[in-house]
Parts: sequence; C-alpha cells; structure tokens
Amino acid sequence: MLVYMIEASEIQAGGARAKARCDELGAFPYSDQAHGLFRPYLSPAHRETLGRLAQWMDDAGMSVETDAVGNIIGHYAGRTPDAPVLLIGSHVDSVRDGGRYDGMLGVMLGIEAVGHFHRHNQRFPFALEVIGFGDEEGSRFSTYMMGSRSAAGLTQTIDDSVTDRDGVTLHDALASWGLSTTRFKTAKRDNVLAYVEAHIEQAPHLERAALPLGLVRGIASQYRYRVTLGGQAAHAGTAMHERRDALAAAAEAISAIEAIGCAGPDDLVTTVGCLTVENGAPNVVPGLVVMTVDIRAVTPGVREDAAGQILKTLEAISHKRGVTLAVEQVQDLQGALCNEALNLTLRDAIIETTGKAPPVLLSQAGHDAMIMAHLAPMTMLFIRCEGGISHNPAEAVNSEDVEAAHRTLVNFITRVGEER
Ligand code: GLV
Ligand code: MN
Ligand code: MN
Repeated sequence: MLVYMIEASEIQAGGARAKARCDELGAFPYSDQAHGLFRPYLSPAHRETLGRLAQWMDDAGMSVETDAVGNIIGHYAGRTPDAPVLLIGSHVDSVRDGGRYDGMLGVMLGIEAVGHFHRHNQRFPFALEVIGFGDEEGSRFSTYMMGSRSAAGLTQTIDDSVTDRDGVTLHDALASWGLSTTRFKTAKRDNVLAYVEAHIEQAPHLERAALPLGLVRGIASQYRYRVTLGGQAAHAGTAMHERRDALAAAAEAISAIEAIGCAGPDDLVTTVGCLTVENGAPNVVPGLVVMTVDIRAVTPGVREDAAGQILKTLEAISHKRGVTLAVEQVQDLQGALCNEALNLTLRDAIIETTGKAPPVLLSQAGHDAMIMAHLAPMTMLFIRCEGGISHNPAEAVNSEDVEAAHRTLVNFITRVGEER
C-alpha cells in the first residue's frame, strides 16, 4: 500500500509539472508577443523554447538532438541498440495569441513519461523518443506541418521564397538557423514502431460527457485556399450602382461559405479566418481583398463536395458583382484513422487510469499525428479542455485531467512493452 501511494504521488507530480512547464513557456522569452503567447516557427521564442526543452529532456534521461527542419528529439535507448522506436510527439509552435497547451502539453507529457521510466531505471524492447515539431500551425509562413512531414519522410514541394508578414523569406529564416529545405529529407525518422500523441481536445465533447480523457478514432481532411477578389478602388462618393466593391463581394462570400458549412453533414466545418483589404481607407471603395477559406470533414467526399459548392458560389458572386476571382489551393491534407490495435491498448490504459471507458472522438483539428500515420501506426489521446476553447489565450486544462493523461501514457507504454 505504501509503495502504491509513493507511486501515485510521484506520477501525480509528473502531471502537475507538465502543466506548470506549459505555463512557464506561455510567456517571454518563450513567446514573441509582449502579452500572451505567439511562438512561430524559427523565431527567437522557438529557439529559447528548444533550449528549455533540451534541459528538461536531459533531466529526464534523454540524449537530445535538433534535426534538419528544426524539430527537437529526445532519445531514451531501448534494451538493445537496434531496438525500434516508440515516438511520442506533438508541436511546439503556436498560433498568434494562442493557448499554452495546444501542442506543448503533448510534448511535456512525453518528457514526463520518459522521466518516469528513467527514474525507475526501466527499459523496453523499444527506444522511446519525444519529438517536438517546429511547424504545425503554419502561423509564420503559408506552410504547414513541415516538421512532421519531414519526420515522416513525405515528399514536399516547398516554395522557400514565401515570406512572413515582415517580408523575411522561409529560405532566410532557415539559413539563420543553419538549415535549408534541401536537407529536410534527412529528418526522416527510421525504424519507428508506433507514434502516439496526447493533445487537448479543442472541442467540448469530453467536458459535456464529464470525462477527462478520450480516444481518437480519426482526424478530418483539410483543404485551405487563398481567394483573391479584385474589384475597382474608387472614391466613397461613387454611386452605389457604379461600384465593383471587392469587400462587399467578400462579405457575401463569407456568409455563403458559412451557410454551406451549416447545411452540410455534422462533420463538415468551413472557416474564413483571414481577410485583407489592400489599401483600405474609410473614403475608398475597396478594390482588392484577399481571404482564406479552410474546409474540413472526416467522411470521405464531404470536404470535396463542399469545396465544389464553395467554388461555384464564389464564381456566381464574382460574376454578379463584376469582380475578378482567383482561387489558389494552399493546402490539401488527407485525414487519417488511428490504428485499431493501438487504440485498444490505449483504451485499456485509459480504463486502468480512470476506471471508465473513454468516448471515441473524431478530430476536426489537424494534428501531426495525421502526418505521422504515413510512417507508422498512430494513436491519439484527447484531454478535456475547458469549454473546448483553443487557439485562444483562454485555453485551459484541469490539473487532475493532466495527471490522468500522464498516468495513461505511462500505462500505455508499459502495455506496449508487455505486448512485444
Ligand atoms: C491546427 O491547429 C489546425 O487544425 O489547423
Ligand atoms: Mn493548433
Ligand atoms: Mn495542436
């Protein structure tokens, strides 16, 4: 009994530490924003964060490296030098004014799980690696998931002349870290047995079910487009019937895109997240607008149908209003299903920890796991998040839930070890 109590409090400390460390990384110098969190790829905040993570990985008994795309990897050897690798990962970058747990909590839970086995001097017939991907959110360049795509060894066509908001090219940002897209392929992880990612839910299903943890069945496919509407800039005194107002066209399009999302199946979501009015001024009829359209669905074909409807609607609006239309696809991310055998093991680990069968959830949010599924069998653990609010500084998790996630990950790894 005494042994169990020591064990329980030690594991509990791991969950609390994982949360506290995410909180520590939520501010300067781990954020490039004066208040709140913005940690974009290859930024000063990213560099500082990797330094801190390297210390924590080292304390947890791992050797640490940074790969050719800026991912950080902590390695904890298996029983034999050639043992395959169980990868535990998530991302370290954030959206602008983001939350402290999206991505980072999964990395912290990986470090805590390895730290637990290190303290108990426990090795497995596989090595453990914790990987913190650098570019999942695409919040600096119009790239996406370059970290996991490189780690999974996927062929990527990357235009490294793309610039961030300040005009810095991806090429120059990489060069300032001594990196180059030409070497991304060397970041591929080899001999990977499985990939597991713990992540906050980013939806309110667990909260509504009053449960701390969920099992993910699959992750939605995504399309992302850049849409340019070109009207005619004109004086605000121009008669209403003489105008070709690009912003009014965009407003109509935004409402129509929302309506298409609402009318579709439950798993369809459509979002216009960015809108730029070129040379906007109070006394100018807007002449040029650029906006993004993000379309996601889990069921095959649903995303494609919605994209077709949205394109037709945009063409009709552009025709009716006499504005030009250019649509560029900037992202086509295939969804992924979690591995059934790993999900059974993770389910058992959740039940052992919480005493309750977890709900099986679909993720509308994208995750590195959907990319890593190309490399190895993959599974995902969801952790309840307050109100389901994410990509927002109000993002919050409860300490007991994080402790349950920590305990589950330790159980999961132990079970995978017993199964081999
Ligand atoms: C990342 O959080 C995404 O789902 O776009
Ligand atoms: Mn995110
Ligand atoms: Mn995330």
